[in-house]
Amino acid sequence: MTDLQTVDAPATPDTPERPTEAVSPTGGSPQAAPVRGSRVRRRLPRWRELQPYLRTGPIRLSPTERRLASAATIWDLRSVARRHVPRAVFDYVDGAAESETSLRRSREAYTRVEFVPSVLRDVSVVDTSTTILGRPSSLPIVFAPTGFTRLMNHEGEPAVARVAGRLGVPYALSTLGTTSPEDVASAAPDTNRWFQLYLWNDRDAGVELVRRARAAGFSALVLTVDTPVAGARLRDVHNGFTIPPTLSLRTLFDIAVHPGWWFNLLTTEPLRFAAFTETQGTVADLINRVFDPTISVADLGWLRDAWDGPIVIKGIQTVDDARAMIDGGADAIVISNHGGRQLDRAPTPLEQLPVIAEAVGHRAEVYVDGGILSGADVVAAVSLGARAALVGRAYLYGLMAGGERGVERAAELLRKELVRTMQLLGVPSVTGLSPARARLRDR
Ligand SMILES: Cc1cc2nc3c(=O)[nH]c(=O)nc-3n(C[C@H](O)[C@H](O)[C@H](O)COP(=O)(O)O)c2cc1C
Repeated sequence: MTDLQTVDAPATPDTPERPTEAVSPTGGSPQAAPVRGSRVRRRLPRWRELQPYLRTGPIRLSPTERRLASAATIWDLRSVARRHVPRAVFDYVDGAAESETSLRRSREAYTRVEFVPSVLRDVSVVDTSTTILGRPSSLPIVFAPTGFTRLMNHEGEPAVARVAGRLGVPYALSTLGTTSPEDVASAAPDTNRWFQLYLWNDRDAGVELVRRARAAGFSALVLTVDTPVAGARLRDVHNGFTIPPTLSLRTLFDIAVHPGWWFNLLTTEPLRFAAFTETQGTVADLINRVFDPTISVADLGWLRDAWDGPIVIKGIQTVDDARAMIDGGADAIVISNHGGRQLDRAPTPLEQLPVIAEAVGHRAEVYVDGGILSGADVVAAVSLGARAALVGRAYLYGLMAGGERGVERAAELLRKELVRTMQLLGVPSVTGLSPARARLRDR
């Protein structure tokens, strides 16, 4: 018999050869349908016909590449990250202050967004570009400053800065960075680099750091103002998290579970802060040593003199503060509660955005952050009045999941989601994203 010949399927042993009942299409009385007459004719398939079913995707030998390729959302990257790094590291990134209510509310606010689409618009080409502080940006996104980045993955700040450059968006280096401004500049010379400053009690040291950043070609200064003292990050307390990590019995067990992370930590440049020498202790100890509760609006004055580029004030939560910062010389503000890592039960940035943008948007650029984990969230933020959205954890999950390739995957997901959401909204360019396009439901 050739593979072209057909074969009759034998009646299955448990199928009795008796008429079965079929209901007529008109709903009339059932008719008898003999099984023998309705036998399915079978044949052997040709090899050619099997081929389409056997098509495989690209073969990825690297386990990291396989993990990243299977992540379809930032949440998926978060799951990969959770398995990939020690628990204390994951919790340091993922966690927030006290009951984590600020963070939960920030994320929940994005689930209450209702988009208002238009149909039959030509959205074959979508222009996601905008300008941020007068410079072109391919998306209304900024990579937020995050401290201790080399802890999440040894590739650290240079990797994140390079991906931001390839994506075409600004990257902000933190005062608590683990790579110096000069090294980030040489690793990512073409990236639009911002420098984030915490003003600590040694003002001269702060000014010196700012001068170094300017000399290294950083284009904007971000002053973070929501940290007079450290927030209570309880996950860090429970995990006994210290910087650098201390070797305890628990750590030794962790080395066995995450050998790759520890191998990278111990065989690359020692993990240290680029701007500080005294780094022993818990994160809260360090932050409390670094932060200065005496900082006030008056400090904006001399900072203006020390930095001749644009100044962004990060950590604004009310209309009054937004006005005061702009009166004091800020070129832009970030509505932010530090990703819920400082004041718990703080105002929810997305909810504050429309009213603050309405009050000061004509005088300064307004950005927002906190809880943004998809390109659709960015579309919502821009529609509700933000010039751009800062993302922190979104790229850090990628970094923990797979170093620079992981950040790249996070960037790709954010970009694709943003483009798709704009197409489904019927809005072909960022200028078309207005409050008419998104509203916040009560629940
Ligand atoms: C691990 C981590 C470290 C951070 N370090 C800093 C920092 O050094 N300076 C700063 O201004 N903000 C810092 N932030 C806050 C971010 O800049 C940003 O406000 C926040 O991550 C936004 O929320 P999201 O993570 O939900 O996107 C950090 C956030 C995280 C998650």
